[in-house]
Amino acid sequence: MNNGLEIPSVGLGTWQTPDGDTAINAVKCALSDGYRHIDAAAVYANEESVGRGIAESGIPRSQIFVTSKVWNTNRGYDATLRAFDKTSNDLGLDYLDLYLVHWPASPNQFPNWKEINRDTWRAMERLHKEGRVKSIGVSNFMPHHLEALILKAEFMPAVDQIEYHPGFMQPETVKYCKEHDILVEAWSPLGTGRLLDNATLQGIAERNGKSVAQICIRWCLQHHVLPLPKSITPARILQNIEVYDFEISPADMAIIDAMPYCGGSGLDPDKIDF
Ligand code: A2P
Repeated sequence: MNNGLEIPSVGLGTWQTPDGDTAINAVKCALSDGYRHIDAAAVYANEESVGRGIAESGIPRSQIFVTSKVWNTNRGYDATLRAFDKTSNDLGLDYLDLYLVHWPASPNQFPNWKEINRDTWRAMERLHKEGRVKSIGVSNFMPHHLEALILKAEFMPAVDQIEYHPGFMQPETVKYCKEHDILVEAWSPLGTGRLLDNATLQGIAERNGKSVAQICIRWCLQHHVLPLPKSITPARILQNIEVYDFEISPADMAIIDAMPYCGGSGLDPDKIDF
């Protein structure tokens, strides 16, 4: 990342992972398969279970990269600090590797959206300076949100986690991030599963002797975007990290890059109402 710290190149997503044993077991399974990166968030309502999975894995805390995110109802300086306390308590961790602002305050909802995002960011900077969060970043920020934030920031965001998958590449945001040395992470790299029966991807998967999920994940990596595939199924969790023994050819990369819009959530950070 732009702060010199390293981040494992595939992470386990935990959005829509049911709380309780399912989440505990998914995290333990991933860590035993070799994942060293878990992507969590307060709003996923499963952080206590994610934390238990980490604790029960037997893998030293220092070897695991853990991310969480401050939810939209906790924007602003004081609320963000309080949200961090709750998240770190729920996860049972005294520091996080990465803490993200989950969604930007948007002009659609708040005339003073820039100020709200800056206040949230000041709290993130404080947590970073206190050593409670090793890296800080954002999620779902588009260039205009980033531009307004960076203008008065003391620390650059290390990461922008956005929706990114075949059929939805957000080229303007990715270009902005690359120009500013901000690492792009992909949420829903499989289009929340909507891409798994895509005929174009199935053809490429067959040619490579891999699954569609592996093609989507590998495609992210070859674009230097960090994928965060979610699964609660042991065989899929394992499959999703077995993506280092093959390469998608430039011709197939071009075919995927040219896919028309598909698999998207339809969520526009400037239009959300949550
Ligand atoms: P499950 O969690 O039941 O295993 P995304 O990461 O884009 O959000 O996609 C997550 C969805 O894709 C979940 O429904 C998940 O199902 C499914 N999924 C994850 N990995 C695979 C895989 N390797 N093969 C098929 N489906 C997968």
